[in-house]
Amino acid sequence: GLKADWTMDQVLEEQLAKIAELVGPEGHAICALSGGVDSTVAATLVHKVLADRLHCVFVDNGLLRYKEAERVMETFNSHLHLPVTCVDHSKVMLERLSGLSDPEAKRKAIGAEFIEVFKNFRDELDKKIGKRATFLVQGTLYPDVIESCPPPGSDQKHSHTIKSHHNVGGLPKDLQFTLIEPFRELFKDEVRQIGRLLGVPEQFIKRHPFPGPGLAVRVLGDVTGGDKLDVLREVDEIYINTIREFGLYDEIWQAFAVFLPVRSVGVQGDQRTHSHVVALRAVTSGDGMTADWYPFKPDFLREVSTRICNKVRSVNRVVYDITSKPPSTIEWV
Ligand code: XMP
Repeated sequence: GLKADWTMDQVLEEQLAKIAELVGPEGHAICALSGGVDSTVAATLVHKVLADRLHCVFVDNGLLRYKEAERVMETFNSHLHLPVTCVDHSKVMLERLSGLSDPEAKRKAIGAEFIEVFKNFRDELDKKIGKRATFLVQGTLYPDVIESCPPPGSDQKHSHTIKSHHNVGGLPKDLQFTLIEPFRELFKDEVRQIGRLLGVPEQFIKRHPFPGPGLAVRVLGDVTGGDKLDVLREVDEIYINTIREFGLYDEIWQAFAVFLPVRSVGVQGDQRTHSHVVALRAVTSGDGMTADWYPFKPDFLREVSTRICNKVRSVNRVVYDITSKPPSTIEWV
């Protein structure tokens, strides 16, 4: 990060005071948790000030990784003692995504569904607490802010939206929330430092980032139809477990598998097959704005490819992405 540890101490104190003043003694806030570092640390921070006036929701959008909803809810309950409502919206979300191939169309649909779930949650909550919750906690980081909307005066060539990250400015104005975004000026490793100061367990702090639109940005084209999402979940789980086994997880900024919209010819047993191709990606990065592909040793690559093809019968080819950002982005979509 740009600042030293002691400064994060100060940032934390400042934010706690600012939030107390902004929300006052009666205000209620909502936080949509993604299970990632940013929203988890943001919620933990705000919870310190608001206690039971903070209301957290976790949406299962059908685009989560292997057993992710269960695992995340378990961690919130048993390690963070954050009360969280889990809303299962997977069926509706996948119906909505059916037939959509364009990256931005997928992101927009996911954003719109998310807003629906969110409005519902808020309406229910208003009934429960007998008044309107008017504050919204978001774990927006500085790179999210500049990638979604470059500051005025920035180079014209780059002043278009690179990707519509739906967690930035994604909620329509008519929801009329006052935003609490304690990390708008921070980089991810600074948020990790704040999380440590708040006692968030290391396993959470070190989690790789995961995009809001989830596996929808890791299946190229239409995410529905067939078993694409399940194949991807299985491959991703094997990949990440192998990375952990080799002791590489903490060296890597983000690692994941991508489901490609092609089939390739292979030979498995005595059979010629015409099956799925998956790409593996792993990058190192300081802030997600630029990234280098991770130089795995051949032993690792051989092992992981063997495991994937042995365990996931419908995959007959594994490729490794050797592109940095730029010219690529980290995600493929
Ligand atoms: P890219 O792919 O743009 O990603 O190099 C940079 C970082 O942002 C994450 N990412 C997203 N996060 N909504 C999110 O919340 C999105 O639509 C989105 N797209 C990318 C990506 O995983 C990486 O960490």
